[in-house]
Amino acid sequence: MSQPARLVVLVSGSGTNLQALLDATADPAYGARIVAVGADREDIEGLARAERAGVPTFVRRVSDFETREGWDAALTTVVDRFEPDVVVSAGFMKLLSQEFLDRHLTLNTHPALCPAFPGMHGPRDALEHGVKVTGATLFVVDAGVDTGPIVAQVPVPVEEDDDVASLHERIKTAERAMLVDAVGRIAREGISVEGRRVRIGAVAR
Ligand code: GRF
Repeated sequence: MSQPARLVVLVSGSGTNLQALLDATADPAYGARIVAVGADREDIEGLARAERAGVPTFVRRVSDFETREGWDAALTTVVDRFEPDVVVSAGFMKLLSQEFLDRHLTLNTHPALCPAFPGMHGPRDALEHGVKVTGATLFVVDAGVDTGPIVAQVPVPVEEDDDVASLHERIKTAERAMLVDAVGRIAREGISVEGRRVRIGAVAR
């Protein structure tokens, strides 16, 4: 792990998780800096946040490539160039190739308590199921959808008058704090992943 740790953050949308990391990394004591922000689409607030912070950005759109494999390779190449210690997929709406994952320790946030409610609609599915507690999960990305080894989780209560939007906003507030805390500790203390067991600290990586 470099000191400060080098982060590449991938986004597809509003980028509030990215903003939380940008704010945290402004303090040198945090132990990490964002060396680039990448996206799979143009004209999103996530890219604007990076530009306002003076962080380099790149965009690789699937539609600009003849094959998905071509896009996978292009994304891997551009991320490689920034030599990240950790890639953070923060609301990035694409699956990453196995080659990418083999090369980069990649973390993702999911707005539910894994293994419950994987996929695109975590808050909606939790609400429809009627759970009283849901939350957010930070995990190491593997070949599945929201299945990877769990790094951190935070519980969030479901209120009786919640709709999907109000629940997702409450989850996102907790999710951002969890992400900032865990990424900072990983940057400062290292991370070990053995099978499904993740430990921050103890073993530097
Ligand atoms: C987060 O809730 C994330 O878990 C989900 O999409 C949301 C992204 O929010 N995959 P933002 O773009 O960071 O504001």
